[in-house]
Amino acid sequence: MDFMKLAARLSRLNPRLAAWLERRLTTIPPVHNKIDEQYDDLLRGLEASVKPYRAKFATFARLPAAGLPHDEILAEMEALNKIEKPRWQDGYASGAVYHGDAAHIDFLNRVYALNSQSNPLHSDLWPSAAKYEAEIVSMVARLLGADATGDEICGTMSSGGTESILLAMKAYRDRARDCKGITAPEMIMPVTAHAAFDKAAQYFNIKPIRIPVDQNYRADVAAARRAVTRHTIVIVGSAPSFPHGMIDPIEELSEIARQNQIGFHTDACLGGFILPFAEKLGYLIPPFDFRLPGVTSLSVDTHKYGYAAKGTSVVLYRGADLRHYQYYTAADWPGGLYFSPTFAGSRPGALSAACWAALIAIGEQGYLGATKRILETAAEIRKGIAAIPELRVLGDPLWTIAFASDTLDIYRLMDFMSDRKWSLNGLHRPAAVHLCVTLRHTQPGVADRFLADMKAAVEYVKTRPAAHGGLAPIYGMAATIPFRGMVSELLKRYIDLLHQV
Ligand SMILES: Cc1ncc(COP(=O)(O)O)c(C=O)c1O
Repeated sequence: MDFMKLAARLSRLNPRLAAWLERRLTTIPPVHNKIDEQYDDLLRGLEASVKPYRAKFATFARLPAAGLPHDEILAEMEALNKIEKPRWQDGYASGAVYHGDAAHIDFLNRVYALNSQSNPLHSDLWPSAAKYEAEIVSMVARLLGADATGDEICGTMSSGGTESILLAMKAYRDRARDCKGITAPEMIMPVTAHAAFDKAAQYFNIKPIRIPVDQNYRADVAAARRAVTRHTIVIVGSAPSFPHGMIDPIEELSEIARQNQIGFHTDACLGGFILPFAEKLGYLIPPFDFRLPGVTSLSVDTHKYGYAAKGTSVVLYRGADLRHYQYYTAADWPGGLYFSPTFAGSRPGALSAACWAALIAIGEQGYLGATKRILETAAEIRKGIAAIPELRVLGDPLWTIAFASDTLDIYRLMDFMSDRKWSLNGLHRPAAVHLCVTLRHTQPGVADRFLADMKAAVEYVKTRPAAHGGLAPIYGMAATIPFRGMVSELLKRYIDLLHQV
């Protein structure tokens, strides 16, 4: 048995021993140097795509001695915009830009410009910001079952799905410490829950208890039940999950939480603005929101299918008491009485204004129509993928369609698609790729182009040997390296590369 296989077996049987061995091994100079060489080699293959402008555009590693004319700066940015815009505008991206119609963008930009100086931290100067935010939270809460429960459903805005999730997990941690004396908190999450939950676990010292998903990529309810201990503060479920677009059994999971008097968080970052409208359109949507008594918090991204500009999300709670555990207040600071609802201090009020404007400009009818177009296009794409013999759709998704191949390297298919301008999401465990369908894909011809390119990708990969570069070798390496620390190190080097001038 070779070393990698031995290490893989060890990390399965005894992850802590494997992590220790990894730390020891990677400090041995020849091993360290060899790994470094491999990282450099892989990252060199990506450098051209990560830093495409070095040769063609001016680079500013330090402040210019004299400021440049506005026209010159705008011309440079317009040139960059011209390169980047067609890719997302013409529907080549998975997720990323969820609306993207020119008139909608222009409208949001005008709203942003009107409010560009607004900062909700100074609610005396901009009471309008507080008005917009309170009304957004109220509109979103009502969309997600607030009216059907006797409880108060309240919440706050945040900067995105990750922040909404971090805030909720912090609130649960602090409440459990305060009310139950829990000092070694645990959170139960399906392996498919968004990485933001793991981030919350790392930031707030909560032990993540990962439960498996079934063959349909939905959380295993029996495993969740078994995982509850006296340290559990919250159970998490997705509606739907980022990787496979599948809705966890929220009803069953939230009931386990309710019976054990612990929190339950529905991550509806992706689904919060699709599922309520899908239900109205007659799709069979399992319950996932505050209509379920066990759901005590929920995250929903206005900057995804709410069609607001990037940088807003809403986190909702059952009861103001839980929301209080999210807030920060400082009563003794010489800088005055200080308070803020979220992690940031100063915040961009213009983004909240643009979010409010998006919600009331689109309205129920607009969201219904958008959802209909998205779900119909996604069904067409899903059918087309399923008809390609070498591909297999994972689970039974509505609009985030993950697919794998039993015969071909799926990451090489993804690299071929990248060469044809597509930006798909690579998944792993199992190896797969997904397309998250947005309004961009509902434009005439986009679904057909995707399927034609996918067929071409299959034909190409079937007949050609692997080439150098692209994401295939990175995912290949991540799949074969048994030591997770080494994969993390590679990702850190990638972030370093992004930060190079
Ligand atoms: C289900 C789910 N939760 C959370 C997030 C995190 O959202 P953000 O990238 O806005 O932080 C995403 C992002 O795609 C998501 O799909």
